[in-house]
Amino acid sequence: MTRLTLEQKAALVVGNGYWTTASAPGIPPIVMGDGPHGLRTQRETADNLGIGASLPATCYPPAVGLGSSWNRSLTERVARAIADEAIEQGVDLVLGPGVNIKRSPLCGRNFEYFSEDPYVSGQLGAAWVRGAQSLGVGASVKHFAANNQETARMTVSAEVDDRTLREIYLPAFEHIVRTEKPATVMCSYNRVNGVAAAENYWLLTELLREEWGFDGLVLSDWGAVDNAVPALEAGLDLEMPGPQRDSRDAILAAVRSGELDESVLDRAVARLSSLVEHVHSRGHRGDHLSLAERQRLARDAAIESIVLLRNERGLLPLRPGTRVAVIGEFARTPRFQGAGSSQVNPTNVEAALPAMEQLADVTFSPGYYLDERDNTSLIEDAVRSARDADVAVLFIGLPPMEESEGFDRDHLDLPADQLALIAAVAAATANTVVVLSNGGVVTVEPWHDSVASIVEGWLLGQAGGPAVADVLFGVAAPSGRLAESIPFRLQDNPSYLNFPGENDVVRYGEGVFVGYRYYESAEVAVRYPFGFGLGYTDFEFSDLVATRSSASVRVTNTGDRAGSHVVQLYVAPAPSHVSRPRRELKGFEKVTLGPGESAVVDFVLDSRSFAYWDTLTGGWLVPGGQYSVEIGHNARDIALRADVRLPAPPPRRLSLDSRVSELIEHPVTGPVLSFAMRRAENANELGGNLFDMVATVPVRRLLRFPGVGEQMRQLPLLLSLANNPVIRAVASWFGKRRRP
Ligand code: BGC
Repeated sequence: MTRLTLEQKAALVVGNGYWTTASAPGIPPIVMGDGPHGLRTQRETADNLGIGASLPATCYPPAVGLGSSWNRSLTERVARAIADEAIEQGVDLVLGPGVNIKRSPLCGRNFEYFSEDPYVSGQLGAAWVRGAQSLGVGASVKHFAANNQETARMTVSAEVDDRTLREIYLPAFEHIVRTEKPATVMCSYNRVNGVAAAENYWLLTELLREEWGFDGLVLSDWGAVDNAVPALEAGLDLEMPGPQRDSRDAILAAVRSGELDESVLDRAVARLSSLVEHVHSRGHRGDHLSLAERQRLARDAAIESIVLLRNERGLLPLRPGTRVAVIGEFARTPRFQGAGSSQVNPTNVEAALPAMEQLADVTFSPGYYLDERDNTSLIEDAVRSARDADVAVLFIGLPPMEESEGFDRDHLDLPADQLALIAAVAAATANTVVVLSNGGVVTVEPWHDSVASIVEGWLLGQAGGPAVADVLFGVAAPSGRLAESIPFRLQDNPSYLNFPGENDVVRYGEGVFVGYRYYESAEVAVRYPFGFGLGYTDFEFSDLVATRSSASVRVTNTGDRAGSHVVQLYVAPAPSHVSRPRRELKGFEKVTLGPGESAVVDFVLDSRSFAYWDTLTGGWLVPGGQYSVEIGHNARDIALRADVRLPAPPPRRLSLDSRVSELIEHPVTGPVLSFAMRRAENANELGGNLFDMVATVPVRRLLRFPGVGEQMRQLPLLLSLANNPVIRAVASWFGKRRRP
């Protein structure tokens, strides 16, 4: 480090191109490429909005699809294949995965994120990092943190309370950092509780490094830095893109004037230099997958991303010899990825129509125009072909201009011309199948009940067309599960009144009650719950056994076809005074079974599976009591429950600031205080309500009331006895004997 001049060091931390870092003696540059569902490597042109051309690369299903696969090993394979292409294209660091939570279905970038649930996001994000880094290519976990909307994304402050951050918006990052050692973390554009992520010392240093042990490099999202010096001090190591000469000059001036300690700059340079060393010492030359192997993987990933939502009368899979009217421009011109920085220049896009033509007797009518011209005559054609066929398969979805990075939607509706098409075709035949293409959730109202089958195809990447055909004709069974709830109405979503905020502030007013955590707790009906998905066979659960550290359950394929199911483990909390979601996902496993086969699935649980973030102590807390470990087909359909009783944690130190309820629950003060309160109730004929009246009153205040201080003269002594661990242990032992 000392070998480098101050100028060289300052130049290193401000980038040197759209996709490259600067170099210095002994520190060559590294090359970055966008991800996360395929590479966007730019050579001549450069931009972060997906406008300029990039090298051709395989486009895998975006995270909205992969997230619905609930398949860790598949996600790992996809990321490894992306890294393989990165090696081929000379890219050292891939900018993914994106693990932000889908707080609102309106977020324009939801297609790039896995789930509304932090456990799913963390598990799949970790698998992604594992896959990419297994080839020695660096990953960049983004966007850290609370970047859950596109509206005003560069300026908005996400106002999120501590508990909500810890339980919902941070765990995916935390899990990945702790388990996978990602090479880099990308800080987000937005502010978090008023402080820009790029300048947020708490976020980038106290939490990320000191608490979670991150030892990689933090880079900025593209253009996220306003003030280079405070950013460096907060823990940012690299500003991108570069070269940011203003930032470099500001850093130089700050070091020279003594405002910035040079060691802070050295620290960032050291992190950059270890990243460079790490990616350049990559032993691996890549897997050299062929184009055909990549296409096959893209197709397999797409198959697992598809979620079958509805299948009345077992219309799907379509039988051989079925005459099919394929309707909808998306069958011919697929929508397979989202717009913005993640946009891949695909190597080989395959539409559904030719794939279906190979499997059945097919007619095609476009049904609507992608530029939303009047489609009346196209609807007439479509209805005619639907009448002449056994089954109508409608390809419906959001046109590309309706959702993208950079802006949010303001409704969940499909375009009116497509709704008219569905209504007309559904009126003409009872055998209507709707295949959806959309990056964010769309409402399936009001047409839901008028069609027999609904296939949620999300965005499936370049091989999505044949994947849809495989599922429609039963060449493959659908096995995707919703990683986000589908509400009846936008208004039902818990963030509805607080999205996207105003005047550059968005308040996360729903707290921890995001997605199904709200729908389940408030018993709000949804069209399809989190975790939902059908297949072509049925599964049953039995023999659930659960303890505080593990659970196991048997799953049996009771149908007559092979298929996969996602066994979902939820924990329902013990009753406590803290408002907690009715259930939260704490484990999942995807299993594939032949007809009649069964398997035992094991889960590992730990204290975090039961904990909430306690704002009083600033730590995770597991209140004692009876929890329920639940095995469900989805968040609403719980098949089995097992009770797990957990002991109460050691009581907190008591003081005059403790609340009466804490004293009552304490093994030393509890019996004494209960006795005194019963006496007071009897004497004053309070009807047994005294405890409820004073439960939340701090002791110090209680003592202020006339007479009480007198009667409780011994309280300070009692409190110090209660804080003595030996006395507490003896009292607990007696307490347990009294109440076996
Ligand atoms: C996006 C990042 C992306 C970067 C580089 C930004 O606009 O938010 O996700 O990696 O551009 O293209």
